Amino acid sequence: MALVAVIAAGGSLAGWGAFSVLLDKTNSLEFCVSCHSMKGNYEEYQKSPHFKNASGVRAVCSDCHVPKALGHKLMAKVMAAKDVWHTVLGTIDTPEKFEAHRLDMAKRVWAKMEATDSRECRSCHSQDAMDIHKQRPKAQTLMQKGLQKGETCIGCHKGIAHKMPDMSSGYKSLFEDLKSQAAAKSGSADTLYSLESTPFYAERPDGDAGKGDGNVYPMTKVKVLERKGDFVKVEISGWVQEGVKRLMVAAKARRIFELSMTDAVANTMTLGEAEVDPDTTLSWQTASITGWAKTAAFTADQAGLGHYGAEMASAACGACHSQPQPGHLPANQWIGVIKEMKDGTALGTEDVRLLQSYFQLHAKDMPNAGH
Ligand code: HEC
Ligand code: HEC
Ligand code: HEC
Ligand code: HEC
Ligand code: HEC
Repeated sequence: MALVAVIAAGGSLAGWGAFSVLLDKTNSLEFCVSCHSMKGNYEEYQKSPHFKNASGVRAVCSDCHVPKALGHKLMAKVMAAKDVWHTVLGTIDTPEKFEAHRLDMAKRVWAKMEATDSRECRSCHSQDAMDIHKQRPKAQTLMQKGLQKGETCIGCHKGIAHKMPDMSSGYKSLFEDLKSQAAAKSGSADTLYSLESTPFYAERPDGDAGKGDGNVYPMTKVKVLERKGDFVKVEISGWVQEGVKRLMVAAKARRIFELSMTDAVANTMTLGEAEVDPDTTLSWQTASITGWAKTAAFTADQAGLGHYGAEMASAACGACHSQPQPGHLPANQWIGVIKEMKDGTALGTEDVRLLQSYFQLHAKDMPNAGH
């Protein structure tokens, strides 16, 4: 019995030794780079302070990507078996394929780090050991405030070791999908939503449509009255501030733009009784108007449009701080915040319009507040 026990113990010890060496080997920079060499990540990392810095402390691939604790580490190794499979498939074997796949991969890394409260970052950077007073001013204020609120490192420090993925690819392809399916999906729908800014016409135009008598803003809900050729006759309902009829908004006293128009068109609006908004003491009236617009600018897929807005927000607004939630602020406050933040993003004017409507329509003081 004793002999068997000794042999068993010896055997497993030897096995353990070999296994442990294997684990170490598979954690080395060389091992990771044997596959991730030509593919951008290595070169980008070599330019980052985690490769070379004043102190000479290097963070290698596994320091950030593989957990230290044995249980978590084993789990990560088992999960990484899929990398071998994808190598066989050639998922990322050219720079083009790698770039096309980068956002998906990066999102998986971010999700993992969020879930572990950036455990691997904290294995080197201890919050307690940070000397706030030696940090740059922006770190002292913004980072300390964020950490106190329970935000995690990766929420604010994306792209520290590699180039940021092209964040716009995700929402841009969603837009293309919405646009190409718009006609098929909205064929007989009674209610449509604008996908983009589009001209509004008092009369149905013939031939060259020109720039119209007004502008429908993105995400505006319209009721379909008639379809003819490439055009649809719609009814748009909302609110106008008394005396400022040229701008219709989606809710009383909330500047969520639906339609701007010429005075002539504004005079054709049907208006309700004036109501005073107690907060601002301004008077508002319900309003509705009919006119024509290009069918191609609309979709019946309200959920798809909302998803597009959320994707744009997550691509544009999550890099410097944690993802801002629309339900965090009232509709009117989002105008100022977006105006201030938009310069830090790569969004064009039209994207900003849609994003603003997205945040406002889901704002704290709107019925469908939340995400
Ligand atoms: C056998 C080749 C190979 C080796 C060795 C390898 N990888 Fe990968 N890795 C891949 C492939 C292929 C993918 C794409 C897999 C996919 O899309 O699911 C990938 C994806 C990734 C991702 C993207 C996120 C994810 O979860 O898919 C990270 C991060 C990563 N590898 C890090 C590492 C690190 C760190 C090492 C060293 C410990 C390493 N890899 C070793 C082939 C390899
Ligand atoms: C192996 C230890 C180690 C790990 C793991 C690590 N870091 Fe670092 N980090 C360092 C060192 C060393 C420096 C350079 C310090 C210096 O400038 O002397 C640094 C610098 C930084 C900087 C300042 C330079 C820059 O790139 O802006 C940030 C921010 C940072 N790390 C964030 C992170 C985050 C986020 C993670 C997790 C994804 C992480 N670190 C993981 C060791 C590590
Ligand atoms: C709320 C956002 C936020 C969070 C959360 C956050 N940081 Fe930062 N961090 C910043 C900003 C902003 C800076 C300053 C960057 C600059 O000056 O360009 C910074 C700077 C740093 C620096 C460089 C300090 C310096 O003065 O050069 C390090 C290192 C760092 N962060 C690590 C971390 C680690 C590790 C965590 C998680 C424990 C973390 N950060 C969490 C926003 C954040
Ligand atoms: C300081 C921490 C750190 C180090 C060191 C590091 N990475 Fe990453 N890696 C990240 C983070 C964070 C992401 C998520 C995307 C981002 O924010 O750039 C990421 C993303 C990736 C991805 C997904 C594709 C992409 O570019 O986003 C791969 C693959 C990857 N890393 C492989 C590696 C390899 C291989 C090494 C070593 C040569 C390495 N990483 C070193 C932190 C690190
Ligand atoms: C280039 C980095 C960067 C980007 C991108 C960015 N922000 Fe910010 N954001 C900041 C900084 C820095 C602050 C802190 C400013 C301050 O406190 O004065 C901040 C603060 C905020 C606040 C808090 C402001 C308040 O008054 O409470 C909100 C909300 C916000 N951002 C939303 C957004 C939205 C929405 C987007 C996308 C359109 C976005 N951010 C994109 C850097 C950024």
